[in-house]
Amino acid sequence: MADPDILLEVLGLSRHFKVQATPSSPSRTLEVLRGVDLTITAGEMASIVGQSGTGKSTLLHILGTLDRPTAGSVVYRGTDVFSMSEGALARFRNHNIGFVFQFHHLLAEFSALQNVMLPGLIAGMSPQQASKRAEPLLEQVGLADRLSHRPGELSGGEQQRVAFARALVMQPDIVFADEPTGNLDTATSEEIHALLVRLNRETNTAFVVVTHNVRLAWLMNRHLLLEGGVIRELRDDEAPEGFLPKRKDTHGGAA
Ligand SMILES: Nc1ncnc2c1ncn2[C@@H]1O[C@H](COP(=O)(O)OP(=O)(O)OP(=O)(O)O)[C@@H](O)[C@H]1O
Ligand SMILES: [Mg+2]
Repeated sequence: MADPDILLEVLGLSRHFKVQATPSSPSRTLEVLRGVDLTITAGEMASIVGQSGTGKSTLLHILGTLDRPTAGSVVYRGTDVFSMSEGALARFRNHNIGFVFQFHHLLAEFSALQNVMLPGLIAGMSPQQASKRAEPLLEQVGLADRLSHRPGELSGGEQQRVAFARALVMQPDIVFADEPTGNLDTATSEEIHALLVRLNRETNTAFVVVTHNVRLAWLMNRHLLLEGGVIRELRDDEAPEGFLPKRKDTHGGAA
C-alpha cells in the first residue's frame, strides 16, 4: 500500500534532447536531467531554484505530465503516470494537476470567469456547475469585481490571480508554478506570494514553484536546487542572508 501522505514520487528521472547537427558541429545529445529523485507529500510547499538553463522548466513539464522523460518514473499516489494512454493521461492531468506559468496563458477572448471555468467545462461540467466553482475561487483570489474583465483589461498581478484560480478550479492535489512572479514588480510579487501561502493553507493543495525570487523561495517549507541534472535539498546554511529557513516537515524528500 502506498503511503497516503506521499503525493508524488519521482525516481531516476532523466530527459535528454537530440540536438541537430550544424555545419560546424555534429548532432549530439543534451543531457538536461540526469537522474532526478524527489518525493512530494500532500499539501507541501516546495521551491525549485537553479541557474538559467539547468532544466527547471523541463522538470516541471515532466512532473506535470506535459512532457515525457527519457528514463525514470513519475508516480502519483501509486500510479505510474507515463504508463497511461494519452487520453487517460490528459484526463488525469485535468483533474489532478494545476499549472501557473510566468506569462499567464489566459485566453484573451474570454473573461476572467470564463477562463477559470474552462478546465471544468473540459472535464464535462455544465456551465452552471463550472461557474459555481469558478466564482468563489475568483473571490478567494480577490477578484470578485473583475469577473467579466478580459485578460487585457486586467493588471499583470490580476492576470496571475486569475491563473491561480484557473489552476485550482478542479481542486487538484498539486499546482506547478514556473516563475509565477517573474514578470511582476516587487510589490505585486509580494501580493502573489502572500496569496500563494494563503491558498496553500486554505486548500491544502501542494505547490511546487520554480522561482528566481529568493523571497518567494524562502516562503516555502522546502528548498530544492537543480544543478548538474539532479536535485538536492538546500541546506539551512545555504539560505540567502536575512532569510531564516522555515522547514517544518521531516518528510525526507529528495535523495
Ligand atoms: N525541446 C528542446 N530541445 C532541445 N533542447 C531543449 C529543449 N527544451 C529545453 N532544451 C534545453 O534544455 C536546457 C534546459 O532548459 P529549461 O527551459 O528547462 O531551463 P530552465 O532551468 O527552466 O531555465 P530558465 O531559468 O532560463 O527558465 C536548456 O539548455 C535548453 O536549451
Ligand atoms: Mg524555465
